[in-house]
Amino acid sequence: VSRTLILVKPDGVRRGLSGEVLRRIEAKGYELVAVELKNADDALLAAHYAEHEGKPFYAPLVDFMKSGPVLAIVAQGQNVIPGFRSLAGTTDPTTAAPGTIRGDLGRDWGLKVQQNLVHGSDSDESAAREIALWFPTL
Ligand code: GTP
Ligand code: MG
Repeated sequence: VSRTLILVKPDGVRRGLSGEVLRRIEAKGYELVAVELKNADDALLAAHYAEHEGKPFYAPLVDFMKSGPVLAIVAQGQNVIPGFRSLAGTTDPTTAAPGTIRGDLGRDWGLKVQQNLVHGSDSDESAAREIALWFPTL
């Protein structure tokens, strides 16, 4: 059994989709370990998105992630790291497969950064690092 860090990004919270994302996580059979609404600051986002520093979408991404509260979730289950990535769908919501969160609910808003509703850790190492960042007491 493993754990992953999931975020409902500010677009998802604003659009009232937090419950829909939690529903899909639970319907899949994953267990909720922690759920907390948070306002991310620069330090947290710089650490969370360190791998993207210097890319053209980095500054808009950080601004977007500060544009409203984020629902931070730790979920647990067998293969939950790749499993949640497949529930989320591919990064670009315009081509994400139907049946996925991004494919069913996302669109391109014509902005500098893709507003694609959710984040999910992409490896064991990322999950451990991101869970420690968002839930330091866990
Ligand atoms: P996360 O689960 O949010 O990490 O998404 P991901 O792993 O599918 O994508 P990645 O880590 O590569 O990028 C992080 C976030 O940056 C994405 O979710 C998008 O919001 C944004 N992003 C990534 N690539 C692009 C891009 O090519 N153009 C734009 N505009 N935004 C991007
Ligand atoms: Mg990523």
